Amino acid sequence: MYNEIDLDIIDINSEPPAEEPFRQYYFMARCREWVRDFEQKNGRRPTACVTTFGCQMNARDSEKLAGILEKAGYQLIDNEKADFVIFNTCTVRDNANQRVYGRLGELGGHKRRNPGMKIALCGCMMQEPEVIEKLRKSYSFVDLVFGTHNIYKFAELLYASHETEGMVVDIWKDTDKIVEDLPAERKYPFKSGINIMFGCNNFCSYCIVPYVRGRERNRKPEDILEEIRRLVADGVVEVMLLGQNVNSYGKNLDNPITFAQLLREVEKIDGLKRIRFMTSHPKDLSDELIEVMAQSEKICRHLHLPLQSGSTRILERMNRRYTKEQYLELAQRIRDRIPDIAITTDIIVGFPGETPEDLEETIDVVRRVKFDNAFTFIYSKRTGTPAAAMEDQVPKEQVRQGFDRLLKTVQDTARSQAAKYEGRVMEALIEEANDSAWEGNPGAGNVSGTACAGTDAAMGTQDTMGAPVSMVTGRLSNNTVVHMPGDASLVGRVVQVSLDRCHGFYYIGHRV
Ligand code: 5AD
Ligand code: SF4
Repeated sequence: MYNEIDLDIIDINSEPPAEEPFRQYYFMARCREWVRDFEQKNGRRPTACVTTFGCQMNARDSEKLAGILEKAGYQLIDNEKADFVIFNTCTVRDNANQRVYGRLGELGGHKRRNPGMKIALCGCMMQEPEVIEKLRKSYSFVDLVFGTHNIYKFAELLYASHETEGMVVDIWKDTDKIVEDLPAERKYPFKSGINIMFGCNNFCSYCIVPYVRGRERNRKPEDILEEIRRLVADGVVEVMLLGQNVNSYGKNLDNPITFAQLLREVEKIDGLKRIRFMTSHPKDLSDELIEVMAQSEKICRHLHLPLQSGSTRILERMNRRYTKEQYLELAQRIRDRIPDIAITTDIIVGFPGETPEDLEETIDVVRRVKFDNAFTFIYSKRTGTPAAAMEDQVPKEQVRQGFDRLLKTVQDTARSQAAKYEGRVMEALIEEANDSAWEGNPGAGNVSGTACAGTDAAMGTQDTMGAPVSMVTGRLSNNTVVHMPGDASLVGRVVQVSLDRCHGFYYIGHRV
């Protein structure tokens, strides 16, 4: 994969090169020496576990961390009792931070039983100074801490933590650097995320992302296309183009291009079957993009278009730069041009100053757009954001009630949208084989699989005679999950499936 460098040709006795990515490969080679020593002493390779919190962007970063660990010789496992455990953290809402602290406490217990264990933390949460203070004070057993801007330096930092007693901390405030050609270990052989841009310039007033991920930086289209070509050559059939606001992609490149133009180029790549992307900001979604999607054979029939609120007054306080009417009009334009598209969204309840009337406006938009799915979040105050300084924070009880009302509306529209295709035959990409038989209903997959979403629960089921039938789980172009009889040989293949029965948010079907 990628333009990877063979570690065997690196002279680790020389000085580390200054230029990237060569410098990182040099440190991978030095880490490999450390791994070989470990292996000689212990009669086994050291194990490593990468745990991801948060969004698709973090999931992709974790694949890069795993790629570097693998290259250095670690054995990757899915167990936090490993010799090296790294948490790739999220801080978009406070409960994400609390979860990290809770899990870190557990890691501390593992380390007491295995003092040779190393614990590392990286990602968005580490960009907050108060977090670093708390780690130094209360979690001094952590060995390595770095942030979002220097994640490409992981090999070098890993080496430094082998060489150093105590906590190694390296946090950068910002960067304009993008380092290409580092290894990545994909979670799925047949699909992959691709970063097309990093950071965000929008400064929605509730959101911490621009502060922890920095200003928007775009990768060059030729680097993106080359990466996708290599992935396709390696068996990938579906790509997800990733950015905080993909619709603004390309504007500040030396040779500016639009996101729609990039998609046209990606479409031309032979062997690639499906293209997804996220996230789209409504204010930047162009007619050109709608047209490219409508004409495309490969771009999936799914658009994640965060609404955040349906009240124009709240949207203004959120600094979203569109009105309720503009959002409704945009959604209508999309549905008119691409009738079979699924539109999913994110909504925040309890933003400062939100009244029950504002929430009614949001519910009105949910009913009118008929979202195929929506992630609903309770507003979380993030230190340093403009909204955190707003005085009219909403009482908890009002938020709870509003949240429950909204959730019910969202579930009702999502259910009726999902059922639309019952009886139809559609293409599904098979993502998983579920070898263990399971009695009862397979779990309801989430239809969106977007930012902050959980994974789909999907298991084998039983036929009418009670004998276990092996099942596979696929995803339609519109992102709805479908379970059907089949075996592992189907994973990674696009098949025709009859959508026999809709069970709330997912289908049970069979191949045709
Ligand atoms: N509180 C609650 N939800 C938030 N989001 C971002 N910041 C906050 C916050 N402070 C939600 C938005 C965004 C999604 C990824 O997370 O809905 O689209
Ligand atoms: Fe946050 Fe808004 Fe940027 Fe999305 S667009 S990451 S919500 S600031």
